[in-house]
Order: sequence, then structure tokens, then C-alpha cells
Amino acid sequence: MCGIIGYIGQRQAAPILLEGLRRLEYRGYDSAGMAVLSAQSLQWRKKKGKIDDGLAQVLQKLPLVGSLGIGHTRWATHGAPTDENSHPHFNSSGTIALVHNGVIENYDRLKQRLTQEGHEFISQTDTEVLAHLVGEHYLKLDSIPNQEAQRLTQAVMNALREVIGTYGIAVVSSNHPGIMVGARRGSPLVVGIGVGENFLSSDTNALVTHTRQVVYLNDYDVVTLTPERFEVVSLGEDTARVQINQIEFSAEAAEKGAFPHFMVKEIFEQGKTVQNAMRGRIDYDEVTSKFGGLNLTNSQLRSVDKVVITACGTSWHAALVGEYLIEELAHLPVEVEYASEFRYRNSPIDKNTLVLAITQSGETADTLAGLREAKRRGHIVLAICNVVGSTIARESDGGIYLHAGPEIGVASTKAFTSQITVLALLALLLGRIRMLSSQRGLHLIQALEKIPAQIESILMQSEKIRQIALKYAAAEDFFFLGRQYNFPVALEGALKLKEISYIHAEGYPAAEMKHGPIALIDEKTPTVIIIPQDALYEKTMGNLQEIKARGGSLIAIVTEGDTRTRDLVDDVIEVPSTLEPLFPLLGVIPLQLLAYHIAVQRGCDVDKPRNLAKSVTVE
Ligand code: AGP
Repeated sequence: MCGIIGYIGQRQAAPILLEGLRRLEYRGYDSAGMAVLSAQSLQWRKKKGKIDDGLAQVLQKLPLVGSLGIGHTRWATHGAPTDENSHPHFNSSGTIALVHNGVIENYDRLKQRLTQEGHEFISQTDTEVLAHLVGEHYLKLDSIPNQEAQRLTQAVMNALREVIGTYGIAVVSSNHPGIMVGARRGSPLVVGIGVGENFLSSDTNALVTHTRQVVYLNDYDVVTLTPERFEVVSLGEDTARVQINQIEFSAEAAEKGAFPHFMVKEIFEQGKTVQNAMRGRIDYDEVTSKFGGLNLTNSQLRSVDKVVITACGTSWHAALVGEYLIEELAHLPVEVEYASEFRYRNSPIDKNTLVLAITQSGETADTLAGLREAKRRGHIVLAICNVVGSTIARESDGGIYLHAGPEIGVASTKAFTSQITVLALLALLLGRIRMLSSQRGLHLIQALEKIPAQIESILMQSEKIRQIALKYAAAEDFFFLGRQYNFPVALEGALKLKEISYIHAEGYPAAEMKHGPIALIDEKTPTVIIIPQDALYEKTMGNLQEIKARGGSLIAIVTEGDTRTRDLVDDVIEVPSTLEPLFPLLGVIPLQLLAYHIAVQRGCDVDKPRNLAKSVTVE
């Protein structure tokens, strides 16, 4: 899951590429580099480490001049994050430069063949093999007359026909100063349409300051760009489908603004983004919800007799909340599957099963593969997704956008609460075409409409939560506990903490602790327990007492006014009261802030945690 960008036009390429790479850095930040065509030759700079610590400093000392170039920010797959393994990579003669997002699965065999033919490699990457392969095909075309204009594009296409795996690439050549070539299969690639200039990028965040007109390329598309035009052909049988789209969000939405980190900006946006997820989707007359893009009639939805939800990471936690919501409100059996497992498991799914794919980025390779597997079996697949025009959004049979705006922080926050909001509305719709009464439907709607203001009130406690965080920032292990709707929230709280502070954290159903994990409780192991005043309050109180009796420190997320729990634990965070099915929307906010403040206290890079990237487009 790297970020790639390309520019061809009249302006200097290097500053445009550098700004674009900074906007793509959340996709991977092990190293970064760029190549610019300068005085008929390809000049390059590349450096291990984050952009500001590496490439930007190199460019300051050794700037690049030219108006055609490509750039790359890397999340290492093949080969450690080193200068040599940084992109761009080149063919043998250095006349072709290439940047790549994805995995060439048969690179080893290709490398052996090329090595036998005399090719020498500098790096351990699969990408360098692809660059040499393009170079080899380029030379073979030398003998074919009238190929000159299309020669680079044709060489790229011929090389890709030998490739097994995934790619989003940008290619330039010193022999063709007037063109740039892009191609994709399994990794996203977007054309940005300018005036007298054109762009390639992994996603729209790097384009929004230059243009709002974009074309989302499809798998097997190969695009040839000049400053004035672009042409798309397909490596597959179909002809390329080119559709010009508008970027919906503003440039400011993809910037930190006054916040120190994207993550905390996105945490604080949740009152607004939950509102956005509901906007225009509540039908007050029918006391139900409505979605523009489901592409399914109520009678088709009524014939659904089971739901399978597939996702990864935080989206998988949202799926678990969705399981409780749909089962309770619509009485439909729900199965939640890790996408990476679902795609290989031969789970018997009958024809009336509705498959839901939940994904913020719309590019997660495992979730995309799960969607394709379900479609291969003839199932209708809906996507709950945040990124408009993303691969999963386009390949699903219909779906629901989150409208949460770009989520740049690697740790997902606002997407999670928007996903739950959408799932609550979907459960309402599925319930109201079955047995859910309008009375219960109305209660849910009324409670949902209070959530944005309730979230704002919790956010006001950020400083208090920061003070609590200071007490526990040195802990080495954490437990997060919750029951029913709050079990997935416990999992999510554990994931937030571990992925940005690197503290080992585990989430469990509260009652599960006594089946083993409680053996780990001691005075050094804090436990966060989610204990709203709901039907299981007394049961959860029992779990709280079991931990307290063993000397474990306790942080409790409670319903406002619960003084009983407050008097029993070390620290308490109060949240407003709401219906049990909606409590995750409130209970998760303190956990996001706790993780954030602990990570900041530990000096971690909150927006770009080690070893991670925002969009996992490799399997
Ligand atoms: C969550 O904070 C992580 N960034 C990660 O688990 C993420 O949720 C997962 O990779 C799924 O991403 P998606 O929602 O874009 O598919």
C-alpha cells in the first residue's frame, strides 16, 4: 500500500510531486523518491525514512528541474526500507523510470530469466524487476516500424502481460519526453485532468489542490498521458470504460488545519460526520431509513434471509456491532467474517444471503477479494465505504457512502462511528420491512438524532482524558472489556491503543476474562471496562469486581451520573445515556482519545505509526 504520483505539464514537476507525496504519505512511509526528466535524462532522488526526514532534505540540497516526473512513498513489501530499495526503479540503461504500488507475485521467476539474459539488479524489490521487464520489451519493439509514438505504452502493456500480481504504476522515459504511462490491476490509480497538464495518483488526496476532475482507472486499464490529453486502453478483452468524476471534498478537508495530528482532527469531526452519515437518510413519515445507492427494492431486501458481513480491522469491529444491530432490529441471522478468511473459506452461502463489505478506503485487498469471491458465487454484494469511486465502491452491486470526508490518520476513528451509524440505519430499514414496530423505529431515530451533540459533549472531556492517559502511558499491557454491543468497542479500543502507542492490548467480552485471561491481571495491568447502565450492568459489575479483587487498576466508561462505579474504580469517564444499540457511538470516543493521548505522551508518530499504512492494498 504505497503512494504513487505523476505529473506532466508546463510547471516544475518536483514541487508538485513532493507536495503530492506528502498528501499520500499516509499510504506508506518507509522511504520516498522521485524521478524527473531533466535535460533529456532522468534525474532521481530517493531516501529511506519519512519525506521530511529524507527526500525533502535531499531535494533541498539537490533540486530537480523538469516538467515531467513520477514520485513514490513506500510501504515495504519486498526488500527492507533502504535507499536502494526506494522507488523509482529503472531499466538497465536508465532511460525508463517506474514507480509501483502492489506485489508482483512471479517476480522471482522473471528476475531469474532476466538475470540469465544479463540484467543486473541493484535492489531486492519486485518493482525493479518490472522496470527491467518494461525495458526489455521496449528494446524488442525497436525493430517494428511506426511504433515510436506508442512504443513506451506498448512496452508497458507487453511487460504487464507477463506479470502475475497487483500493480498501480507510473512510467516515464527519457526517450519520450512528451508522455507518461500509467496502469493498474488490483491497486488504485486515478487520472487528474488539468489544463495543459495531467496527473496520475494513487488517490484523490494528492490531486484535490490541482483539479477536481478525475478518472478512476479500472483493472487492466493502461493510460497514456500528454499535457493536453490522455487515452485509456484495456489489457483485457473489454474496451476501457472512461468516466470523468468530480472530487467531492475540499482541499482543506485533507489537511490538519489547527490540529496537531490528523487523528485528533478526525476524532473531533465525529459530531459532524455522524450527522453526515444520517443526512437525508431518515424517512420520518414511514419511520424508516432510505438510501440512494442500494439498488435493491424492499421486496428484494425482504427476501434476504441471512446477512454475511466481511471486513478487516476497525471495519471488522464495526461489522460486529452491525451483527448485533441487524439481529436485534431485523431478526436476521448475521455472520461476520474476516475478509482474509472469508475469501478462502468454502463457507456454504445460500442464494438469499446478502453480503456486505465494509471498508473505509474501498481498496483493502482482502476485502476486495472477499467481495469478488461472493460475486463469483452469484451473491448480491453491497459496500459500506467512505472513498467515492474506490475499487470496492465501483465493483459492488450497490452501497452506502459514509460521507465522512478523507480519513488520513492511519488509525481509523470517524469512519468507525460513521459505519455504525449507517449500519444502525440499515438495520432500521431491514427491521421496518419485517417486524420492527414504528414505535421502536421512532425511538431509534430520536436517539440517533441526539448522538452528534452527545459526541460533542464527550469531546469536551479531552483534557480530562489526557490527564488519565498520563497515569497509564508507561503500562506495557492493557485489557479492554465490554459486553454485547460493547464487546466490539472493547476490541476497537484495544486496536486503537496498540496500533498507535505500541502497547500490547487485548479486547474481550467482559465475562470471558474468568476463562483464562484474568490470570494476567496484576497491579501493572490496567483494564478499561465499558459499563453503561444497561440490562447487563450488574453482570458487568461482577467482572469489574473480579479484576479489582486481584489488584488490577480500572478505568471505567460509565453512563453519566453512575456514582456507584465511580467509587469502585481508579478512573472514570462519563458519557451520556442512549439506547443500548447506539452506545458504541458514544463509548468508543473516550477510547479513541485515551489511545491518542497515551501515544502522544509516549512520543509516537500518531498519524504514521511504525509498520502500518492507511490502505492495505496487499494481501
Ligand atoms: C484501523 O485503525 C486500521 N487502520 C486498520 O485496521 C483498518 O481498519 C483496516 O486496514 C481496514 O481498512 P478499510 O476500512 O479501509 O478496509
